Amino acid sequence: MYGTCEPGEGGSGKTYMGREIAEVMGHFGVGWLERPEREREERTDLLVGAMKLKATDSVADIGAGSGYFTMRIAPIVAEGVVYATDIQKEMLDIVTERALEEGAHNVMPVLGEIDDCGLEANSVDVVLFVDAYHEFSHPWEMMTSIVRALKPGGRVYLVEYRLEDPLVPIKERHKMSEEQARREMEAVGLRFVENVNVLPQQHIMVFERK
Ligand SMILES: C[S@@+](CC[C@H](N)C(=O)[O-])C[C@H]1O[C@@H](n2cnc3c(N)ncnc32)[C@H](O)[C@@H]1O
Repeated sequence: MYGTCEPGEGGSGKTYMGREIAEVMGHFGVGWLERPEREREERTDLLVGAMKLKATDSVADIGAGSGYFTMRIAPIVAEGVVYATDIQKEMLDIVTERALEEGAHNVMPVLGEIDDCGLEANSVDVVLFVDAYHEFSHPWEMMTSIVRALKPGGRVYLVEYRLEDPLVPIKERHKMSEEQARREMEAVGLRFVENVNVLPQQHIMVFERK
């Protein structure tokens, strides 16, 4: 399932289903994640709107980083919960502090493992990955644990910079094509629903647990 290759720019030297897995962004990258121009550049408002969340939804923001999306989703699912998961404790410390400051009582930080998301079986309605999945060092194991955590009919929003578009100014290893993403999600039994094409640089690929 996994192989090795000569590392490309931003790559880890490990391959999965013909793709080189990217290096993990360290917590020193928080300034970039939280840059003020991000909403305008990436239209993060359109992304959150495209998720069609209900107030009671239980959402997992996997690879949440500093909680950019967690903190925007928390007020929308006011009667539900947002699990912010990451493998870097430093990231979750930032999320915990922000949730306390903003009084977001429905934000639950979860420290995951590189091969396990750390969520209980049948516990989430919606999973979100923004600019994170391509970094997972054990994508098959992670996705297997995520499929287990999804309720039947639960949705996955996989958001990645479009590899098909050479004008998107991101290193190639940090982009993904729709074709590759569909192959990898189908390998763990998820069904492709649609690619919501509303963002300037990223795919919003929606999958469903059968
Ligand atoms: C580029 S950041 C994106 C953060 C956030 N989703 C955002 O868009 O602002 C990617 C994050 O994925 C996390 N990550 C990498 N591998 C992971 C794994 N196996 N499980 C959970 N998080 C992971 C990294 O620690 C990092 O915080």
